This record gives sequence, C-alpha cells and structure tokens, in this order.
Amino acid sequence: MKGFIVTGTDTGIGKTVFSAALTGALLRRHGAARYWKPVQAGLEEVTDSEAVGQLAPGALIHPEAYRLVTPASPHLAARIDGVVIERARLTLPEGDAPLVVEGAGGALVPLEGSLLYADLFSGWGLPVVVVARTGLGTINHTLMTIEALRVRRAIIAGIAFVGDAHEENEAVIPALSGVARLGRLPLLPQLTPQTLASAFDEGFAGWSL
Ligand SMILES: Nc1ncnc2c1ncn2[C@@H]1O[C@H](COP(=O)(O)OP(=O)(O)O)[C@@H](O)[C@H]1O
Ligand SMILES: [Mg+2]
Repeated sequence: MKGFIVTGTDTGIGKTVFSAALTGALLRRHGAARYWKPVQAGLEEVTDSEAVGQLAPGALIHPEAYRLVTPASPHLAARIDGVVIERARLTLPEGDAPLVVEGAGGALVPLEGSLLYADLFSGWGLPVVVVARTGLGTINHTLMTIEALRVRRAIIAGIAFVGDAHEENEAVIPALSGVARLGRLPLLPQLTPQTLASAFDEGFAGWSL
C-alpha cells in the first residue's frame, strides 16, 4: 500500500474532505498515514492541509512544496506571487506510511508552462481516485476526466462519489468508463473526524485498503 492521488471533476466538490476520510481510513488500517498537498493556492481561508489535519488527527501532514498567496489556478497564482513552479520540487515526499496526494482543481489544471497535474500523476505512479459529484452534470465531467487521465497514462483506482445517492449516475459512469465505483460519501451535516470516519466506512465498505 503506497497510497493514492486524489483528483476530481472540479474545485469545491469535496476532494479535501474525501482525502481526509481516506487518510483517516489508511491510518486506522495501517497504523500510520500521510497527506501531501503539493501546491496550495490561497492562504486566507483554512488550507487543505489544515483541514485534513483537523479531520484526520494523527496523520502526518507533509508541508506543501509551494504555498501561494493568490487563490487561483496554480499557474496564475505563481505568476501573480512572482514564484516559478519547478517540476523538480514536485517529487513525492519520502516516508513508509501510505500517502494521499491531493491535486488542485481537476486533472488538467496547469502548474507551469504546459505542465498539467495529470502529467505529474502519471510520473508519480500512484493510483488516482476521481472524486465526482453525484448530481446533474457529473456524467460528462467524470467521463472527460477519466479520458484525460487515460491519455496521460495515469493509473486510475476508481471513482469516489460525493453527495446524495443517485442510482443512475453512480451506475452509468462506471459502466461507460469501465472504471470502478469505490463508494460514496454523503454530505454530512456535521464534519468531525468521527462522523467522517463512520460515513467513509459505511460508504466505502467494499474497498479493501
Ligand atoms: N462530504 C461532505 N460533507 C459535508 N461537507 C462537505 C463534504 N465534502 C465537502 N464538503 C464541504 O464543501 C466545501 C468544499 O469541499 P472541499 O473538500 O474543500 O472541496 P475541494 O477540495 O474539491 O475544493 C467545504 O466547505 C467542505 O467542508
Ligand atoms: Mg481541496
């Protein structure tokens, strides 16, 4: 068990919450787990690393390679901040425990020049989890994300749905793409390490981590 990359169909769809749930589950199964957000763009609100630290207490949170002030796509945030993102600094942090890596936005978000997240994913070699909404619009976004990952030869672990149950969408996307449905995380009225852990264990019961 080396870990997973978490990407998604969009920003604000629940990648960080899912990453925290996955990190917490790996921690419970393996006794240790790590989380890494390579590029954080926007520091005014709670950062993704802080959110995961709160929702998966006990996990090791690696420092971000880049902490950009501007809340924008990493390529633009870096330009505005006057920072040059170097691919050589975006190597997986070392460690023995399973690692969860969270991208920014979606698979084809640019970092620097023509370098996109999906290019890093295939280079890192960890299986990618695609976080997808359950509701209207998700079929197109999820199938396009999967195609983009395949073009760049990323390994796809499966789809993690977030939101209210939607039987048709949760069935047709795996059927059309041939990518496994790993499970579904409902929208939780209260987000705590405990509510998240039990929702993950229930929603992803069939996923052997
Ligand atoms: N399963 C969930 N239950 C309740 N709130 C959620 C859930 N998933 C995401 N959220 C909330 O939605 C917002 C965006 O989620 P986040 O995980 O930060 O998205 P992303 O990482 O894709 O940008 C946050 O305020 C987060 O707390
Ligand atoms: Mg996030």
